[in-house]
Amino acid sequence: MKIITVKDNIAGGKKAFELIKEGLDKNYDTLGLATGSTPLSLYEEMTNSTVDFSKVTSVNLDEYVGLDGDNPQSYRYFMNEHLFAKKPFKETFVPNGKASDLQAECLRYDDVIAKHPVDIQILGIGVNGHIGFNEPGADLEGKTSLVHLTESTIEANKRFFDKVEDVPTQAISMGIGSIMEGKQLILMAYGANKADAINEMINGPVTNHLPASVLQNHANAIVIVDEAAAAKL
Ligand code: GLP
Repeated sequence: MKIITVKDNIAGGKKAFELIKEGLDKNYDTLGLATGSTPLSLYEEMTNSTVDFSKVTSVNLDEYVGLDGDNPQSYRYFMNEHLFAKKPFKETFVPNGKASDLQAECLRYDDVIAKHPVDIQILGIGVNGHIGFNEPGADLEGKTSLVHLTESTIEANKRFFDKVEDVPTQAISMGIGSIMEGKQLILMAYGANKADAINEMINGPVTNHLPASVLQNHANAIVIVDEAAAAKL
């Protein structure tokens, strides 16, 4: 793992964008994208740039079960609002949280990933070390699956909803096995509340109790942290 410490999330977004541009120069054409507050500064860099993404495909990590793309709390809506509406991509994939058969949707999404192998995977990290929505205990080699969100994740994500009861308790998430197949992984973390997870991810054992620790096994994983998130390293 390569660790890059930056001053703040703005500098982190610029650094991640530089890495994406280097990838595009190498003819990378598929980005794995993430939601949450962490990648917002990167998406702002992308939308404010003149870089053309119209030949780039994106494959997102996850979606809440029960929310369709018109729901402002859905990850599809988030991606459209913060990136795709401003910066056209060739094709954009997000799991369908309203699929009538969720198991079939997981298989369909594995097929999407197989047809569009990710060149650069963008990741945030949950305070409990989750990546995508792969919570502690997840299979480190897993494929797309229906996951149950932990109390700590529901608590952390409730800020996007009117009340905690509105936060979905399930999601469809790309599996850790698929995430690890990305050629390059870029995990970003900002703020003091991520410091413990970042320290354990880098200095702790590789364990599914802290799913992000699996990045230690990836040949090309880059971690971008601000000073607060790096405080316990
Ligand atoms: C959600 C997403 C993750 C994200 C995490 C952290 O749980 N499923 O992909 O990394 O939130 O969010 P934030 O960046 O807002 O701290």
